[in-house]
Amino acid sequence: MAETLGPPLELRDRAGRPLADIVVVESPTALAHEAGELFAQAAADAIDRRGRFMVALAGGATPRGLYACLAAEPFLGRVGWPRTWIFFGDERCVPPTDRNSNYLTAHEALLAHVPVPSGQIFRIPGEAARPALAAAEYDRMLRTVFEPEPVRFDLALLGLGIDGHVASLFPGAPALEERDRLVVAVETRAAVVPNRITLTLPVFNAARRVLFLAAGVEKARPVADALRNAASPSPAARVRPIDGTLTWVLDRAAAGSLG
Ligand code: 6PG
Repeated sequence: MAETLGPPLELRDRAGRPLADIVVVESPTALAHEAGELFAQAAADAIDRRGRFMVALAGGATPRGLYACLAAEPFLGRVGWPRTWIFFGDERCVPPTDRNSNYLTAHEALLAHVPVPSGQIFRIPGEAARPALAAAEYDRMLRTVFEPEPVRFDLALLGLGIDGHVASLFPGAPALEERDRLVVAVETRAAVVPNRITLTLPVFNAARRVLFLAAGVEKARPVADALRNAASPSPAARVRPIDGTLTWVLDRAAAGSLG
């Protein structure tokens, strides 16, 4: 059963309203189910209001449990998969068959098991010979798919790196300061796969709902830094939806430094 911690004071807006909900659960399994519930609620709300659910999936390993949970009952039957449109928050510059591919992770755990029309799955071509060109094309695609509305995801899923990175936005990276482009190619020495394509902060901060997932004691420090230190330069601390909700679902270990 999820136990919810009140949001830290530093995350309140000027009117004193909490900017983030922190949900602490007992285990990675409970985290997957809690996140599944939030995913299903976001989907139902979006489909009711706008006829479709636009979601950006997170990469890395943490969301695997969520994806497997969504591919099984009750979420398999609850989520409006035929009206769901799948995008990716970032991708490593590897082929979609590579074990490091975020698309492969999502495909194996979720997309191969749910009835999302293939024309509604927008993979970032990590195999592209020119990542910057692929990023520009993904940027154009997003603007086209969302028009005449601005690019605004109903839900953006994010994991958290131990250095506080989100998607492929790493500490100190110029991409963190990007204000106009929605998608950029980056190169980092901080990751196994150095070349990546990533959505930028303006996209995440335009989302209606941002949902962070973090589990494990190694995430306790970056979680506390992102949530307790309003002046933190951490990329995670800069995810602040302008007109949307921010929820962190943590297991007890990852919440261990929140106090
Ligand atoms: C990526 C992810 C990245 C990930 C964090 C956490 O492509 O690597 O987008 O931002 O979410 O590195 O990864 P884990 O969940 O594997 O700890």
